[in-house]
Amino acid sequence: MAKNKIVIMPGDGIGKVVLPEALRVLDAVGFDAEYIHGDIGWEFWKNEGNALPDRTLKLLEEHKISLFGAITSKPKDQASKELIPKLQGKGHVYYSPIVGLRQHFNLDICMRPCCSFKGNPLNFIMRKGDGFEEPLVDVVIFRQNTEGLYVGVEWTDPPSNVRKALETHNKMGKFKDVSGENLAISCRIFTRAACHRIIKDAFEYARKFGYKSVTICEKPNVIRETSGMMREEAKKLHTKYSEIKLWHTNIDAQMMWLTKNPEDYGVIVAGNMFGDIVSDGFAGLVGGLGFACSANIGKEVAIFEPTHGSAPKYENLDPSIVNPMAMILSSCMMLDHIGETDKANRIRDAIARVIEEGKIRTYDMMRLSGGPDVFEKGACSTQEMTDAIIECL
Ligand code: NAI
Ligand code: MG
Repeated sequence: MAKNKIVIMPGDGIGKVVLPEALRVLDAVGFDAEYIHGDIGWEFWKNEGNALPDRTLKLLEEHKISLFGAITSKPKDQASKELIPKLQGKGHVYYSPIVGLRQHFNLDICMRPCCSFKGNPLNFIMRKGDGFEEPLVDVVIFRQNTEGLYVGVEWTDPPSNVRKALETHNKMGKFKDVSGENLAISCRIFTRAACHRIIKDAFEYARKFGYKSVTICEKPNVIRETSGMMREEAKKLHTKYSEIKLWHTNIDAQMMWLTKNPEDYGVIVAGNMFGDIVSDGFAGLVGGLGFACSANIGKEVAIFEPTHGSAPKYENLDPSIVNPMAMILSSCMMLDHIGETDKANRIRDAIARVIEEGKIRTYDMMRLSGGPDVFEKGACSTQEMTDAIIECL
């Protein structure tokens, strides 16, 4: 019997293309696993009125660890129109299944490593003095995944009891005369437990992988209560990790500094929205969506996925042109998570060699616009890139 059981959820579009590529690499590195397919995505929305069927939740409950490709989401109205006729008008409402998974399993920690590979033509370059410098970025963002502004406690025209409660706050005075339909409110909710858990994990990660600093990237000078709680918890926890430096940055300044001294940062912790922003910022320095991997980690279940979506415009290209590295690097995060760090490092080393040698590049690495003609211009296919990585292993 295989040592590991992994639920694989290819989902939609290029999710179905890149996930099998990651499995080929995992096989090549000798990872011993049985893969169990989980249904998720648009097909199940259209035919069952549920993009995240209960049977898939059950599989995840049982096996805990999953690789996920990507899903296609569409606005609610359009989603309803695409239901099969017998499901039309039955009150089915479309919800994004990946958001659903994060909520259902309380996958409260999102990790997004952003590491530059030497020789990647997409690496960020900055002007320094008379010349140019290519800073080597090695940052891991810990984004709180389930709270903050994305919880969805919000109103346009808030009910009168909500308005009354809010008006007990002296800063609400200036909105007193704004009529309901002209007033929109979104709540930023943090809990101490979630702040504690993500900061503790970030310190543990920094200790385990030798990062010198943990930076809390928030805005406590203005958003005093929620950002302030993060700051407070970080200070308390830091006493147990005194060999690691604790820095605080404001999200706005951080976005500027990441273009000036990105090499100075190690582990970064942020709430949901600021984490979303700062992780996209750093991802842009190291090659963008073709390289951006991520993990959604709860107390029991963990799901590993590329940051990119289903890129529908490329899903039917044969051979496929998309970069499989984001998915393969996500599977390395899975290996790290289950204690197979040696195998993860071997794959990352192979990717690093392929990139540095530069003999073979996907279209995004050549800054081409995507389409079937990229091969004439020298780009390799998705499968050829995977073959090259396996060859290097
Ligand atoms: P997207 O990430 O699917 O694609 C945006 C563009 O990035 C593509 O057109 C392509 O140029 C590039 N790209 C993406 N992945 C790439 C790869 N592996 N290699 C090379 N280039 C790559 O985002 P978009 O177009 O905004 O959304 C498409 C669909 O995906 C939507 O339905 C959206 O809701 C969904 N989506 C799903 C996500 C998930 O499953 N977690 C995340 C983001 C979007
Ligand atoms: Mg984003």
